[in-house]
Amino acid sequence: MTLTSETFWNDRAQSYTARPIIDVPAYEAGLDVIIPHLRPEHHVVELGAGSGATAARLSRHVTHMLATDSAAQMVRIARTNATANMDVAQHSAKTLAQEGVRTDVVLALNLLHLLPDLDGDLGHIAEILPRGGLFISKTPYSGGGLNLWAPLLWVMRKIGQAPFVKFHRLDALKSAITRAGFEVVETTIQSGAPSRAIIVARKI
Ligand SMILES: C[S@@+](CC[C@H](N)C(=O)[O-])C[C@H]1O[C@@H](n2cnc3c(N)ncnc32)[C@H](O)[C@@H]1O
Repeated sequence: MTLTSETFWNDRAQSYTARPIIDVPAYEAGLDVIIPHLRPEHHVVELGAGSGATAARLSRHVTHMLATDSAAQMVRIARTNATANMDVAQHSAKTLAQEGVRTDVVLALNLLHLLPDLDGDLGHIAEILPRGGLFISKTPYSGGGLNLWAPLLWVMRKIGQAPFVKFHRLDALKSAITRAGFEVVETTIQSGAPSRAIIVARKI
């Protein structure tokens, strides 16, 4: 039994976006890592933006924010959170690249572990950035402490209740980003179960 990502996230869009942030200090600390890399002249694309709430928060630091998500129901909800300099559209990294979208910064927050074709999608992210453009990701990873989600999600996936999820090791995550044509310029670890890595990478 295979559950597609779109079906999973469309079905859960309402409940996922309605639930409060579990660890507000960690969320805010994450924004404090990201914001210093944003410039007022930047055009930013967020992939897998979910409710669009983070895109809306960050939009005040840049010229334009395009919040995207592959799930139509997430896009519908994100539109209700859009700010004056923010657009929302249904996209994946692949469709953005196919449409010739270009941007200064790409954000992928809590997304990379959900991508079945990580190398392919990182390649598409590199396509939409100029040399020197920034790719900023926050990703739960394996090996950074106890991760009870990993076995639970494995079982749920086997019975068709969860989409693809892979907790990469941190070095594997960084290698994949490097392979796609980036240099990693900053890594911040947020300890937890699972731990998350905020990786800032520059296209070379
Ligand atoms: C765990 S949620 C994270 C949402 C938001 N970034 C956050 O940090 O709260 C993952 C989101 O990525 C979207 N998503 C999953 N696979 C995707 C893909 N291949 N391309 C774009 N979005 C995707 C889902 O629809 C969902 O909204």
